[in-house]
Amino acid sequence: MTERKATNITWHEHHVSNEDRCKLKGHTGAVLWFTGLSACGKSTVANTVEHILHSRGIHTYVLDGDNVRHGLNKNLDFSAEDRAENIRRVGEVAALFARSGCVTLTAFVSPYKADRDKVRELLGDGQFIEVYVNASLETCEARDPKGLYKKARAGEIKGFTGIDDPYEAPENAELILDADTKSIDELAEEVVSYLESKGHLSLQRRD
Ligand code: ADX
Repeated sequence: MTERKATNITWHEHHVSNEDRCKLKGHTGAVLWFTGLSACGKSTVANTVEHILHSRGIHTYVLDGDNVRHGLNKNLDFSAEDRAENIRRVGEVAALFARSGCVTLTAFVSPYKADRDKVRELLGDGQFIEVYVNASLETCEARDPKGLYKKARAGEIKGFTGIDDPYEAPENAELILDADTKSIDELAEEVVSYLESKGHLSLQRRD
């Protein structure tokens, strides 16, 4: 799936460098990769973080699993192979956003460690911030905002993450959020504090 089929292609260097783009924006780009079970709160935390950053003048964008699967990735299902391709494409898109100087937040179940690690490799250390939104299956199933756990338990959806498809929890996530006990606002603040501590939000405006 990831094999390159395009031939006779040449890489073009850009005249405006990544550094130039970041200077203009006043901050560096990064990818905040939220991962966790369906209904763990990934999208809600990501959107709350985006709101806080936006209000501080930081350029942001949220890439969300359900939304991206309506367009760019609408030809992919939930087989292991297609989930890998979903994450690969999103990783590439997120890398483009990050190189433009944008703080990019992705909210995908991304259940397989190998797929997430490939994105980490693509972005490089410091640019890829893995955020494990850790909510127990019991919590997610009790929420069940889309009624999908119920359908999965009834056998109407096959291969549902956490029910009859695995979720491989991150082993080296930069951040682990306790989504069982903390509020969305608390979790979002933890993420923003982390970004501040790593200097991602420091403004270095061009004179
Ligand atoms: S991923 O596994 O490829 O990363 P992604 O984040 O894009 O998944 O999409 C997950 C969303 O699709 C879930 O929040 C849920 O609404 C829906 N969904 C539909 N079928 C499945 C399934 N089999 N497993 C997990 N989520 C599913």
